Amino acid sequence: MNFRSHVLGCGGYLPERIVTNDELAKTLDTTDAWIRQRTGIRQRHVAADGELTSDLAVRAAERALAAAGLNGWDIDLLVLATATPDNTFPATATKVQARIGMTGGAAFDLQAVCSGFIYALAVADSFLRTGQAKRALVIGAETFSRILDWSDRGTCVLFGDGAGALVLEARPTNGHAGNSARPNMERGVLSTHLHSDGSNYGLLYVDGGPSLNGRAGHLRMEGKEIFRLAVERLAAVVDEALAANGLNGTDIDWLVPHQANKRIIDAMGRRLGLPAAKVVVTIDRHANTSAASVPLALAEATADGRIKPGHLVLMEAMGGGLTWGAGLVRW
Ligand code: UT7
Repeated sequence: MNFRSHVLGCGGYLPERIVTNDELAKTLDTTDAWIRQRTGIRQRHVAADGELTSDLAVRAAERALAAAGLNGWDIDLLVLATATPDNTFPATATKVQARIGMTGGAAFDLQAVCSGFIYALAVADSFLRTGQAKRALVIGAETFSRILDWSDRGTCVLFGDGAGALVLEARPTNGHAGNSARPNMERGVLSTHLHSDGSNYGLLYVDGGPSLNGRAGHLRMEGKEIFRLAVERLAAVVDEALAANGLNGTDIDWLVPHQANKRIIDAMGRRLGLPAAKVVVTIDRHANTSAASVPLALAEATADGRIKPGHLVLMEAMGGGLTWGAGLVRW
């Protein structure tokens, strides 16, 4: 039997506290105008004291489960993408597993920074396709506010906290793999495409870690170079995803990009020949929430009725590592 991963539900959660650009400009040498023009960001959500990545993940997971009409015990695989886990170990995923009432199966964290959700989607899809799990919860959750150097205007204005989650279920394909007349019209995850290049490790990293120096550390980034590489590599991986499925940019109903910079998002939309109305943008309100940005955008666009069953959704992301990837899903 051949399986495909169908999307059953989606949910997102943002901490209550909103920090505007003007608020940051009170303590930093920056302006609302600079941040908006160079990034598209107006505000970001920041977790409250004591509010952890697991807390955000649980809220998003509960909403995704509710949207899917399922309970925690219906899930047998939980993959949590995060670069800001609660503890060095155990995996934050196991905490979330217990809190949502998922009593069996396997739960683990996955670390690919801003590409984490695409990586987690690829891993869950592989488990479901190969019959190793029946229903998966794929979560991206971050509290980047905890690893920012709040005196570095080049990085701290860019990020926010949040979580998003997706429920997937393995369902038999209409035809056997490769036999279906039009496999790209069948619902479910069509394909995922992952890449990494460790030679660019030093362009975006955190200067702390349990083995390195025992500290959590702060995020450091060569923004200009990351920007250049993002435009180049995201364009390549998006082309790869479309070609693998015999599709063109204009076949896409919704581009759901990682929300790192509005200028990168616009460049990708133009490249695919998509009108701005087909690109899901949350960066103005969420800023860059790393692994949470794509599932948060999915949650928003499904809740407000933009993404509908049968729509073709293209997701892409690039982050520290460097890591990058894309996923095509027939909703
Ligand atoms: O999610 C992971 C992937 N991350 C990304 O994709 C981020 C990619 N990079 C970017 O989004 C952009 O490079 C940034 C938004 C980080 C920076 O924009 P930029 O247009 O590349 O600016 P820049 O770094 O070249 O800086 C231009 C000027 C500099 O001043 P000087 O040296 O020209 O005097 C910076 O010091 O802007 C200055 N600057 C700021 N000014 C006001 C940098 N940050 C700020 C700030 N407010 N917050």
